Amino acid sequence: MIYSGLKIEELGNSHIVQSLLDQFHLPKDFEPEQGYSSHWKDRSSRSLIKVESGVFTQIQGEGFGNFSTPPGWSNKLMGLLNYLSYAPALIWVFPKFFLALYHLRKAGIGLLTYDSLRQAALAANLAKWIGKIGISPKQICMIGDGYGVLGFLLKQIYPKSKITFIDIGNTLTFCSIFIGKNFNNNSFSLLGPSSTKMREKNNSPEVDSSDFCFIPAENIRSIELNARFDLFINVASMQEMTPFWISWYFEFIRKHKSSKSAFYCCNREYKTLPGGEELIFEKYPWDARDKIIFDEEPRFYRWFFSRELGRKNYLVFGIPIPFMKSFDGRLKHRLLLLNSP
Ligand SMILES: C[S@@+](CC[C@H](N)C(=O)[O-])C[C@H]1O[C@@H](n2cnc3c(N)ncnc32)[C@H](O)[C@@H]1O
Repeated sequence: MIYSGLKIEELGNSHIVQSLLDQFHLPKDFEPEQGYSSHWKDRSSRSLIKVESGVFTQIQGEGFGNFSTPPGWSNKLMGLLNYLSYAPALIWVFPKFFLALYHLRKAGIGLLTYDSLRQAALAANLAKWIGKIGISPKQICMIGDGYGVLGFLLKQIYPKSKITFIDIGNTLTFCSIFIGKNFNNNSFSLLGPSSTKMREKNNSPEVDSSDFCFIPAENIRSIELNARFDLFINVASMQEMTPFWISWYFEFIRKHKSSKSAFYCCNREYKTLPGGEELIFEKYPWDARDKIIFDEEPRFYRWFFSRELGRKNYLVFGIPIPFMKSFDGRLKHRLLLLNSP
C-alpha cells in the first residue's frame, strides 16, 4: 500500500500509530523478539516505514500481501484472469463480493491483485457461513491479519462490531496505519506495550468498548484481558508461527470465547519454515468437542495468475496452464463452532 505523503496526525489513531512506530520501527536497535518464527525474523527485518517530520515517506510491508495493482498491461491482464477464473467459485456470494470490492476501492486498494480478490472473496463467504450458524459478530478477534484488510471488510459488513487485531508489533504498525486512515471517527485502543493502555477519541481502554483494539503479540501474554469474542479468525498466519504460538493462541481462543463463538482457520496443510520449524494443520491442538462446520480446501485459494518465473504451474486435468501458478502447498480451511463454556 502506498501512503507516501500521508501525515501521522491525519490518522484517527495517530497516538497509537506513533507509539507502535516508536516501539517497533524507529529504534535502530530493534531486534525481533525471540518468539518470532524464523520466517518472521527475516520478513520483519525487511519491512520498512520511514517518517520525516511527521509525514510517511515510505511504507513497505514485507510478507503480508500485495494490494497495489502492478503497473503494465500484462500484469493487469493477470489480475483480470484471476477474477475470470475464480468467478464460478464466487457465484453464490456475488453481491457481497462486489460490495467488498467497492469498499476496497474506496480505501485506495488496487483491485487487480490476487490478494484483493482473495480478501473480498473471504469476507463475502465468511458473512455467509457465520450467518448460517446464527452468529452476527459483536466482538471479532483477528490473529495475524497483516495490513488488516479482512478486519476492515468485516467492520464494513458488521458496522456495530468491535475488532481486535493481534499481531507481531512490526506488522501491527502497518495494520494500525491502514485502519487509522480508513476509520477516522471511530474509537481505538492499544493494549501494551509494557501494560500501558492507550485510548483515542474518548473511549475506555477496554477491548469491549473501542471499535478497534490493537494488541502486539510481544505484549499479549502480560495483559489481563477480560474480552469475550464471538468470532476468531486466522488466515495464512499460523502456518508461519512457531508451534509454541499456535498452542498459545488455541488456549487464548478457549479462554476468550463467548457462549456462542466460531473460529475460522485457513492455513497451509504443511509448511517448513527457513529455520526448520514444521507446521502441520492436522497437528494443531484441535478439540474434538468443537463442532466442525466444514473442513476442506478453500475454493478461492488454489491458484493465481502471474508472470512470475520459477513457480510451478497449476495443473488442470494434469495439464499445466500457462501463467496459472500453484502455491507451494495445499491450503485447508476449517470453520468451528466452539464447544460452549
Ligand atoms: C502471510 S501473513 C497473512 C496476513 C493476512 N492474514 C492475509 O491472509 O493476507 C502472516 C501474518 O501472521 C502474522 N504473525 C506472524 N507471527 C505471529 C504471531 N506470533 N502472532 C500473531 N501474528 C503473527 C504476521 O505478522 C502476518 O500478519
